Amino acid sequence: MKNPLLLTILLCANLTLSAQVDNRHEQSTTYEWPTDTKVLDKLHQWQDLKFGVLLHWGIYSVPGIVESWSICDEEWVRRDTTMSYQQYKDWYWGLANKFNPTQFNPSQWAEVMQRAGMKYMIFTTKHHDGFCMFDSRFTDFSIAHHAFRDNPQRDVLQHVLSAFRNKQFMIGTYFSKPDWHSQDYWWDVYPIKRGRQVNYDIKRWPWRWERFKQFTYNQIDEILSRYGSVDILWLDGGWIRPAWSLNEESEEWLGCSGQIQDINMPKIARMARENNPDLLIVDRSVGGKYENYRTPEKQVPDTVLPYPWETCMTMGDSWSFVYNDNYKSTNTLVHMLCDVVAKGGNLLLNVGPDANGEIPEPCLKRMEEIGAWLRDNGYAIYGTRPLQPYSQGRVRYTQSKDGMHRYAIYLLDEGEIAPSRIEIDGYVYRVKKKSKHAVVVELM
Ligand code: GLC
Repeated sequence: MKNPLLLTILLCANLTLSAQVDNRHEQSTTYEWPTDTKVLDKLHQWQDLKFGVLLHWGIYSVPGIVESWSICDEEWVRRDTTMSYQQYKDWYWGLANKFNPTQFNPSQWAEVMQRAGMKYMIFTTKHHDGFCMFDSRFTDFSIAHHAFRDNPQRDVLQHVLSAFRNKQFMIGTYFSKPDWHSQDYWWDVYPIKRGRQVNYDIKRWPWRWERFKQFTYNQIDEILSRYGSVDILWLDGGWIRPAWSLNEESEEWLGCSGQIQDINMPKIARMARENNPDLLIVDRSVGGKYENYRTPEKQVPDTVLPYPWETCMTMGDSWSFVYNDNYKSTNTLVHMLCDVVAKGGNLLLNVGPDANGEIPEPCLKRMEEIGAWLRDNGYAIYGTRPLQPYSQGRVRYTQSKDGMHRYAIYLLDEGEIAPSRIEIDGYVYRVKKKSKHAVVVELM
């Protein structure tokens, strides 16, 4: 095996560079294993699942634009230049009054995702724009208080979680720590400064920041105490982080010199685990006790990593639903799953439902095809462990947990017909199941 530490460092350096030019999340450089055995057990269960779905759904789905980011002034964001910023923001907030997803059918979502072979689900309860997909007691800026308010499923989160629980999915809630709708994060008294960051001086207005912390605490509490048990709390917006986690590099990228945006994670984690004692907490990119697994974004690491991880990946180019997205082929997605699993990770594949609540046709097609592949070959994926040399040319290697079965997954080119035999390390193996996309043989 190549030196994992060196590779991790290289990977981080690479990510730091690219994170500055788009909205890709920076990665942490450290990993700390949980010490609580309940959490550790849950982590191992989660690692066996291998394949999950991330759902980005919010008011941005109405016009079909990138999630939240267009209200944030950063270089890479494109905006209609015929509108003033204030006009644009008013239009954006107004989307809440148009978001009426009458076709919302979470049981159907769960059904197609189960057929796709996905085993866990992470749902955007609130993205950076602050629009809640649950009936929050701490803000009216939610799906339950706007165009969808008279619908029996107005408390969307409840219906999503129970539909997926019914299909035995592990349940995760995405929650954005930054909230650009909150006056305690972006205070209208000041212009939006430093893009995504808090726009007032925390030292000058400490009570305002305290209020924001309390609001964040309260909303996470609601999500974890009012909607049944949750397995994963997936926290996005890594620029909100404590002082100890800042280093020179991240400080520059975070643009928060002098502005430590600490929300007291130990307190949040204590509360979170009161209702869900084995909860996995994923405080993305922060490192330390509350990042129970790491989440390389839109990329697959080069090799096996010495800690639990998950690649989160868009199915097209965008997290949210956009018109004419550029979807990856099923072949690419199956290969990615094999590659990730061979390196010991999980794949969290994103789907963006549209404004009506429907899953776009190209996503349905791909999920159906991945599911068909997994029904034939899932034994070489689920619950497996990496096997040296992991990845070699067209072959990816995995093994059963007890090491009794060792598999080679041979990746086929787009449209290539599976061969009857393949040669690996000088041995010729007969291919029993001639699947599309990739075939599996058990090694001697
Ligand atoms: C990035 C994007 C954010 C998205 C997340 C999902 O951090 O900026 O919008 O929700 O990735 O991983």
